[in-house]
Amino acid sequence: MKLLSIKILYKTAAIALVCLMTIAMTSCGGGSSKASSQAVASEAVSSEPQDTAEESEASSSQQESEPEIPTENDKQTTFGTVLVTGDKVNIRAEAKSDAKVTGRAAAGTVLALLKNRGEDEEFYKVSYGGKEAYIAASVSTQLSGTGVQAASKGEKLIALTFDDGPDKNLTPQLLDILKSEEVQATFFVLGSAAKVNPSVIKRAAEEGHQIASHTYNHKDLTSISEAKLKSEINDTAKVIEQNAGSKPIALRPPYGAYNAAVLNAVDVNVIIWSIDPMDWKFKDAEIVYQNVVNVARDGDIVLMHDVHASSVEAMKSIIPALKLRGFSFVTIEKLIELRSTPAHGKVYNDLRNAA
Ligand code: NI
Repeated sequence: MKLLSIKILYKTAAIALVCLMTIAMTSCGGGSSKASSQAVASEAVSSEPQDTAEESEASSSQQESEPEIPTENDKQTTFGTVLVTGDKVNIRAEAKSDAKVTGRAAAGTVLALLKNRGEDEEFYKVSYGGKEAYIAASVSTQLSGTGVQAASKGEKLIALTFDDGPDKNLTPQLLDILKSEEVQATFFVLGSAAKVNPSVIKRAAEEGHQIASHTYNHKDLTSISEAKLKSEINDTAKVIEQNAGSKPIALRPPYGAYNAAVLNAVDVNVIIWSIDPMDWKFKDAEIVYQNVVNVARDGDIVLMHDVHASSVEAMKSIIPALKLRGFSFVTIEKLIELRSTPAHGKVYNDLRNAA
């Protein structure tokens, strides 16, 4: 079953959880204060031994099973997320501690919350691999939202974006995957990397992908001089224009960090993100897969990095899974063309359909 053929590599709870909860995000994709501040209030990480994987047969059979045909549930939109805090946590078919185990989630996995949890309820109702399931509240924590659901109307669009490349080896591998899936994505390239890998950018542009700016040297734009800020932007625009044929029309500031000075200095749209699977932190294709597919909604902008082999590997599963759930893949430029209104301004975290 190629769709979910990635072998699950369970991480230890200690690594994933401690990193996620306590360390300020320092890698390039991170800096999302939203994600880090949300991932705090955890209790009882290791307090439920029966939910921390003593049976070993369930997960492999689960992962080998065929993906389900999209159901009514897939048309619904969830507004909440739950973070798995324990390691190898059992996902169950019902909200009971002796209910059938239908899967097992590694620490750091994000699940869509399908229903609010009452104070006396010990399980969250979540979506796992596109199916309704339950996870014990003692080994997970609500990150966001109310769990309210609404039917989503119309088409489901999603923009895959890749930062920090181009990488000499990995980006061409990713381009091969995108080509075979006939999917267009957006590459937020570093000017410094583009300079040394011009042929990769050229190929990406020729194959219909959007080439956008992630600045030249990956500096925090809010902490450099105006002159330096301008050279970060302009030098990158130049190398992109030379190799992709046109200037970038979108900027993703490193760490998602921007302020009024940054907005004043750029005349293009500033693109943040709505889904951060933290691929740069986990470097685990299975977690990246779960953290994108479990929470994807119409209009989402997905942040990934084409400089990690695990992220490129994850795309082999993410794209088919999202296609199965009815998503169409668009570049940022296309998403803006289809969804933006003047009221949106120039900074985007997502481009959901206005209700
Ligand atoms: Ni970055």
